[in-house]
Amino acid sequence: MTEASALTEAVPSVLVVDDEKNIRRTLSMVLTGEGFKVLEADSAERALEVLSDPEQPVDVAIFDLKLPGMSGLQALEKVRADEATKHIPVVVVSGHATVHDAVLAIKLGASDFFEKPLSRERVLVSVQNAIRTARLSRTVERMRAELEARYEMIGTSAPIQKLFAEIDKVAPTKASVLITGESGTGKELVSRAIHRLSPRKDAPFIKVNCAAIPRELIESELFGHERGSFTGAQGRKRGFFEQAHGGTLFLDEIGDMDLTAQAKVLRALQNGEVVRVGSEHVIHVDVRVLAATNKDLSKEVQSGTFREDLFFRLDVFPMRVPALRERRLDVPLLAAAFVSSFCQENGLREKKIDPGVFEALQRRKFPGNVRELKNVVERAAILSSDVITVADLPEDPHLSPFEDEHESEAEDSMHPSLTTPLPKVPGAQLTLREFREGAERTYIVDTLKALDWNISKAAVVLGVERTNLHKKIRAYGIKRGDA
Ligand SMILES: Nc1ncnc2c1ncn2[C@@H]1O[C@H](COP(=O)(O)OP(=O)(O)OP(=O)(O)O)[C@@H](O)[C@H]1O
Ligand SMILES: [Mg+2]
Repeated sequence: MTEASALTEAVPSVLVVDDEKNIRRTLSMVLTGEGFKVLEADSAERALEVLSDPEQPVDVAIFDLKLPGMSGLQALEKVRADEATKHIPVVVVSGHATVHDAVLAIKLGASDFFEKPLSRERVLVSVQNAIRTARLSRTVERMRAELEARYEMIGTSAPIQKLFAEIDKVAPTKASVLITGESGTGKELVSRAIHRLSPRKDAPFIKVNCAAIPRELIESELFGHERGSFTGAQGRKRGFFEQAHGGTLFLDEIGDMDLTAQAKVLRALQNGEVVRVGSEHVIHVDVRVLAATNKDLSKEVQSGTFREDLFFRLDVFPMRVPALRERRLDVPLLAAAFVSSFCQENGLREKKIDPGVFEALQRRKFPGNVRELKNVVERAAILSSDVITVADLPEDPHLSPFEDEHESEAEDSMHPSLTTPLPKVPGAQLTLREFREGAERTYIVDTLKALDWNISKAAVVLGVERTNLHKKIRAYGIKRGDA
């Protein structure tokens, strides 16, 4: 944190933009009286100069709508579009506002909108809320960045946080870990995070894909061989266990390893000893083993294709990586991150994502989990113009309109739920009241959606008190994500 912004955390500063000197003076008095530092500008052009001055950090800007030259709304658009100023909340004030102005201001990203004559209370509440919200989102952003740096995985949902906590617990130990989870959920990333956060981090991390090695070669790959020990064995070779000495061996797709190899792996784990193929010499190895599979190993044990003793040996610390549909909250974060890094890697201009895309993605089933999400958004990034829209998404092959996902939704509170659609032709089966309520509900949901579920903004647009809107939301059972 720079010194300048550290200072603003203590004394928040407000920029007041109005061409009328009296208004500036009044606002200045009210705000200074509450301990704010106040800066003034008499035009939008001057205000933009102040906002982009790093020496003078501004916590909130209050813009008059009508200004000589550039209007308050045009300035708002510029503030939002500029990387250096887009985090600054803007409150828009108007002398004679129309609903259209208010909606437009909120749509352009104003944090609040109100009319003159100014009420002291209204101004203070609005400024304080804007500051609080901006600080909160900065904190969330910082936490998110810290998590990403630590685990090299993206996610803030409850299930992924639980997984991060498990990684923290097990990483410092030498315990074997069995990582299970559907295909594409991030099992490999988990294993890498465990290694990176362990005392072995500077020693090798060796990954072995057990499914990709032919069964007649797996033994020599894992344990090494001496020259001429079998046909095709040219020279001596250190196996993966030896290569991972002091570090971590990641046995990926362990469910595909055959029984003979399983027996040898068990011996290596129990005694910390390996013997190269064609040799009698015992080599001591210090290796931590992590294993991953998308199979249910306890079932494989029952059917006799997996050794029970090896299963217990690996399953000392079982970890289950949740499917993406169990953590829909992470979908927008993941999608935005994948698009951003895809654009960077391919020298494309950073593309924006229409909010409708996030909603559409959160509704998908994603049997291929994070990997599938990544493919879908990268494809959309290739196809789209500057803004990725729903039309750029491939059709969902797994979509069935009447089937809803009930799997383990309880864990995530912000998933889309079924909605009551407004009937196109109100038939005789509806009373007038039912129709009216249906229409009201739909209108509230649409407004909330358009405003990114910001209840304060929606209350402004709908012309009701916040508390009143809350009541209606509860009464109609409206949930974030309702469409
Ligand atoms: N939380 C996450 N944050 C960022 N990227 C992720 C996350 N989870 C998975 N990925 C990405 O998704 C892809 C699949 O992840 P990974 O290979 O770890 O999955 P897996 O469970 O090992 O899959 P499989 O069972 O098919 O081997 C990779 O490109 C990975 O980088
Ligand atoms: Mg994998």
